[in-house]
Amino acid sequence: MRNILPVYKKVHITVARAQGKYIWDISGRKYLDFISGISVNVLGHRPSAVIKAVRDQLGKYMHVSNLYTDMNQEKYADLLIKKTFPGKVFFSNSGTEANELAIKFVRKAGEGRNKFRIISFSGSFHGRSMSTLSATGQKKFHDGFRPLLTGFDFAKFNDISSVKKLISPRTAAVLVEPVQGEGGVYPAERTFLRDLKKLCVKHKLFLIFDEIQTGFGRTGSLFAFQKYFVKPHILTLAKAAGGGLPLGVTVLGEGLEKHFTYGSHGSTFGGNPLSVAAGLATLRSIDAKMLKRINALGDYFMASLSKLAARFPVIRQIRGEGLMIGVEFKKPIAGGAVAYSFKKGILVNACKDNILRFLPSFVIDRSDIDLVVSELAGFLDEKSEGVGK
Ligand SMILES: Cc1ncc(COP(=O)(O)O)c(C=O)c1O
Repeated sequence: MRNILPVYKKVHITVARAQGKYIWDISGRKYLDFISGISVNVLGHRPSAVIKAVRDQLGKYMHVSNLYTDMNQEKYADLLIKKTFPGKVFFSNSGTEANELAIKFVRKAGEGRNKFRIISFSGSFHGRSMSTLSATGQKKFHDGFRPLLTGFDFAKFNDISSVKKLISPRTAAVLVEPVQGEGGVYPAERTFLRDLKKLCVKHKLFLIFDEIQTGFGRTGSLFAFQKYFVKPHILTLAKAAGGGLPLGVTVLGEGLEKHFTYGSHGSTFGGNPLSVAAGLATLRSIDAKMLKRINALGDYFMASLSKLAARFPVIRQIRGEGLMIGVEFKKPIAGGAVAYSFKKGILVNACKDNILRFLPSFVIDRSDIDLVVSELAGFLDEKSEGVGK
């Protein structure tokens, strides 16, 4: 740590290994992982299909650059298009870069027409580069980094009239997370996303879904837009996209590619062969049976937490979709819950000082949920937050 920039609040684990739903530290202590690398390791740690795909790829080549064709990139793009909507795929290395391309696309498509503004939302998170930071609707990420990139307007999440008010002849796109993740696990209302799409069609705006956190089964459908029955024009993906290795993906809907020609964009490592092999194995593994299981586990988790909310009035709200779940407290005790769970061998995360977030892998079962919920009850009991206390 001595020579590492201290930008992360570290939980005190030095990792020795990880397998399935568990992480072991160097002292041999085992932790149940309910954060899965912040929604990355959806199939658990080191799933055999991914290990095999990476090993096979390692035996062939690691990096050759995008000057040459990688067969798995073609296969990944074909499968992703088949599972989303017709269009073209660009591979990058991270969520930030996937969004960066979406933002650059909006500018390129509106070139010469002075149409470049993007409506984003309060509480959103889209990345840490200057463009994605500027698109992020949380002041705490902006502080210290001004001047930001111009061209972003912020509407209120789940409030369609606030979006309408911001539309001007300069507006080119709307950028939204179907379920806000870093902002505190806020699912969009069904009608909100539907109305957004209608508004975008009416005003000829691009609807961009940032599914970097919600993609790859997290919300109980392969992509959240499918659960909401609202198809965006542009889809940005990362986190689980690379099956545990760095990969960002931007899907531009049919016809949009005309704005990009040779030299418009690029990346040395984007879609590197190891990440693509791992990601392709992951994408192939998320089938209907797995999605059904995610929904069943998510429902069970939500129901167990709701019972807890009845016992502990300090819980303000339980919300989420599939296995992306947040617990909001009336007090800033989420950090305490993380520390308590850690002592009990469970890894969870606080995305706000009063919001606890669960992003487990899809290989957990009901007994793991029971354990996590009972330890949370233990924490709230210890804090004397129960009914009548
Ligand atoms: C919705 C969303 N968009 C973008 C990002 C940025 O992704 P990355 O950290 O891979 O750059 C994140 C990361 O948490 C995210 O949750």
